[in-house]
Amino acid sequence: MFIAIEITYLVSSVLFIFGIKLLGSPKTARKGNLYAAIGMLMAIVATLLDQNVLTYEWIIIGIIVGSLIGTILAIKIPMTGMPQMVGMLNGFGGGASTLVALAEYYKINPNYPVDKGLPFLLPLDQGIAIVLSLLIGGVTFTGSMIAFGKLQGWVSGKVVKYPLQHPFNLLLLLAVIAGGAYVVINPSAMGLVLLITFVSLLLGVLLVLPIGGADMPVAISLLNSYSGIAGSTTGFVLGNNELIIAGALVGASGIILTLIMCRGMNRSLMNVVLGGWASAGSGGTGTATTSVKGDVKSIDSEELAMLLDSVSSVVIVPGYGMAVAQAQHAVRDLVNVLEKKGVRVRFAIHPVAGRMPGHMNVLLAEAQVSYDKLFAMEDINDDFPMTDVAIVIGANDVVNPAARHDQNSPIFGMPILNVDYAKTVIINKRSLNVGYAGIENELFFYPNSLMYFGDAKEAITKLTNEIKNL
Ligand code: TAP
Repeated sequence: MFIAIEITYLVSSVLFIFGIKLLGSPKTARKGNLYAAIGMLMAIVATLLDQNVLTYEWIIIGIIVGSLIGTILAIKIPMTGMPQMVGMLNGFGGGASTLVALAEYYKINPNYPVDKGLPFLLPLDQGIAIVLSLLIGGVTFTGSMIAFGKLQGWVSGKVVKYPLQHPFNLLLLLAVIAGGAYVVINPSAMGLVLLITFVSLLLGVLLVLPIGGADMPVAISLLNSYSGIAGSTTGFVLGNNELIIAGALVGASGIILTLIMCRGMNRSLMNVVLGGWASAGSGGTGTATTSVKGDVKSIDSEELAMLLDSVSSVVIVPGYGMAVAQAQHAVRDLVNVLEKKGVRVRFAIHPVAGRMPGHMNVLLAEAQVSYDKLFAMEDINDDFPMTDVAIVIGANDVVNPAARHDQNSPIFGMPILNVDYAKTVIINKRSLNVGYAGIENELFFYPNSLMYFGDAKEAITKLTNEIKNL
């Protein structure tokens, strides 16, 4: 049976790796999801066949209750609430690692629950793995809960600073490491194990509390990576190869995603981790930092329909507002109508448009917009000068030209979509309000810009109908 379980683990690990590879492209992502899900099912079934399982009752109850809660949450949470849901799930992963490490510690301890005075022999590698699981799992659990609270608006989204913040956190970390080393050498120090767990949980709160709301999706991606590393160390605690491999995959892919997001926002990882971006943007409060002046020209649906009737190339830039308005289906209808008129329509996707990685791709895929119309920023940015009309739908920061030249702007240096180089820019949003970074957008005042005010879904539907009526 042992060999069969190990072979199943190996096959499921291969499925995980292929799954992640296929998730790299929207075309193959569904297949990737399926492969990974089959791998997970195989891993669960193999684990349940383990001879160490004493009773199935609690496992079955756990599966039923967990599946029920998970299904309800997945159905109820709107697309815009996905980052906090992911945050919470990461936290559960970290919490599970902490609990497993604690349970394993008590299981090996011959003097628990009654002190029989027996020698407690904890192998060095297992001892180190238990301490690391407690530390990383604990930080991940409370850190993710704070991240969830910040995104949900239950905890202040502001950058929280207090005196000696970084030295204090470092001191706590060193204390956990020193305490952990002591426990590895003297495993019977049960009180110290509980203290390490408590300080790790506290550290999670103190590390994430200072991070501003705007950085939270990056922090969540980092916590996702931590939850994988915690899972992997727990794999060493249990001697479970599958958990070691799956945890390492989550840890590595989480770090890669975090770095991609940081690059897309022109932020350094340390800057995010240390919660140092104390700008107006950090809270995503919607207050402007600069006062851009000039005239704003607006256009109504009828005029815009006539303008679009005479163009040959259009690039659509979707942003967070499209997600809020759930306008993706209306946008697809607009594309169909324009294409019928012989217009070449493409989408330009900024890596951090919306509020989570791949946010726009997911929405457009849901509306069955074909993948070959979707272009990553680096593949389409040079085409804007040859584009007749760029239509910005609910995007703001990712098209703010200040990022290119205003050294005082919090988003200075962030790569943006150069929509202002197009012959005409149409910006659809409800007002001149700021986006997530909390800064005004000078694009709205450019001579080639026209504001098309309104909720994205309503405004785009109206525009499509006007074009049809021409
Ligand atoms: P934002 O800059 O946040 O702007 C979104 C705009 O949508 C708002 O200015 C808002 O203007 C408009 N809007 C809201 N509801 C709307 C509706 N119903 N109809 C039409 N418009 C609506 O969005 P973006 O350009 O996509 O940029 C994303 C931001 O999030 C960046 O700052 C990025 O750094 C940050 N961020 C992204 C990620 C990821 S991974 N995607 C992670 C962390 C941070 P009105 O109120 O005037 O309508």
